[in-house]
Amino acid sequence: MTRAVRIDSNGGPEVLKIVDVQVGDPGPGQIRIRHKAVGLNFIDVYQRSGLYQLPLPLQLGMEASGIVEAVGAGVTHLQVGDRAAYASQPPGSYSDARVMPATCVCKLPDAIDFDTGAAMMLKGLTAQYLLRKTLPQGGLQAGDHVLFHAAAGGVGLIACQWAKVLGYRLIGTAGSDEKCALAKAHGAEHVINYNSEDFEARVKEITGGKGVKVVYDSVGKDTWDKSLNCLSPFGLMASFGNASGAVAPFAPGILGAKGSIYVTRQTLFTHIASRESTQAMADELFAVVSSGKVKIRIDQRFALEQVQDAHRALEARKTTGCTILTL
Ligand SMILES: NC(=O)c1ccc[n+]([C@@H]2O[C@H](COP(=O)([O-])OP(=O)(O)OC[C@H]3O[C@@H](n4cnc5c(N)ncnc54)[C@H](OP(=O)(O)O)[C@@H]3O)[C@@H](O)[C@H]2O)c1
Repeated sequence: MTRAVRIDSNGGPEVLKIVDVQVGDPGPGQIRIRHKAVGLNFIDVYQRSGLYQLPLPLQLGMEASGIVEAVGAGVTHLQVGDRAAYASQPPGSYSDARVMPATCVCKLPDAIDFDTGAAMMLKGLTAQYLLRKTLPQGGLQAGDHVLFHAAAGGVGLIACQWAKVLGYRLIGTAGSDEKCALAKAHGAEHVINYNSEDFEARVKEITGGKGVKVVYDSVGKDTWDKSLNCLSPFGLMASFGNASGAVAPFAPGILGAKGSIYVTRQTLFTHIASRESTQAMADELFAVVSSGKVKIRIDQRFALEQVQDAHRALEARKTTGCTILTL
């Protein structure tokens, strides 16, 4: 028997319960992994609250690192004893050990410790597909402006650093002056406290009225309208989250009126649907982290037993960088 965090109904952090579960042997295409550390992500909040509906009861968590304990038939890229890390569906990483599909599990380079591995896979692979694959027509060139909301968060601080590596001029928003300072220290060229400043007006000012080529927006409801106004003609609105609530339906006609702009809603799980694409993305992530160009900040650590407190902190916007659950 091992510990796992389960919900029997949707609701607030109080529905998170630690239970004992039986972990069996891996079937074809699966592995059993004994976790060393677990990553906390905002998607865990959506799944707990019911914003994203999944069948109940549900074992939560989509990111972790650990040691491969058993390998099912047909799995060739992992062996018993390998250090490994993953971002993956289905949920279930808030646990000491689990059986799971091997597809998204990657060998963790020796230079990357288990805590870092647990913190960086879901958030780092997201930053990878956003900045490297979710691009406006003609792509992004060094010197181009992009707007990145929630820039001091888990995905945000990785994106600030990676954008700088790529030569993009990232304008980051965050909810306090302290968070803005953190984003700036990690590579954002400009920062805007969107709780005290009008970010649309500031973006126009910073870009000399031109706007940005891409807005990366994970805040959703609260930032949607103004974000569209920050785009230059033919710019791309890359929506990838809803920390403030889901975006309301809109009429496509507004996209023409705002300069023939594009809108996309991306999810990591399309990008990591195959072993090949997962590994190619992870190789890029491992390279920027191993080189020290992108540092993974773990600003909060909670024991698994404190998982309710971890969710409260994340939802209350009290966290910066990455958060892990320790085992
Ligand atoms: N689609 C995908 O593939 C994908 C993958 C990974 C993550 N995401 C999304 O990316 C975002 C960042 O994920 P993360 O795990 O790294 O979380 P995070 O950025 O560490 O935390 C979320 C941040 O959102 C901001 N926020 C704005 N309005 C909020 C509100 N009403 N309630 C709570 N937070 C609010 C807060 O920063 P401020 O205080 O600075 O505003 C908060 O710290 C999330 O929206 C997540 O769902 C999407």
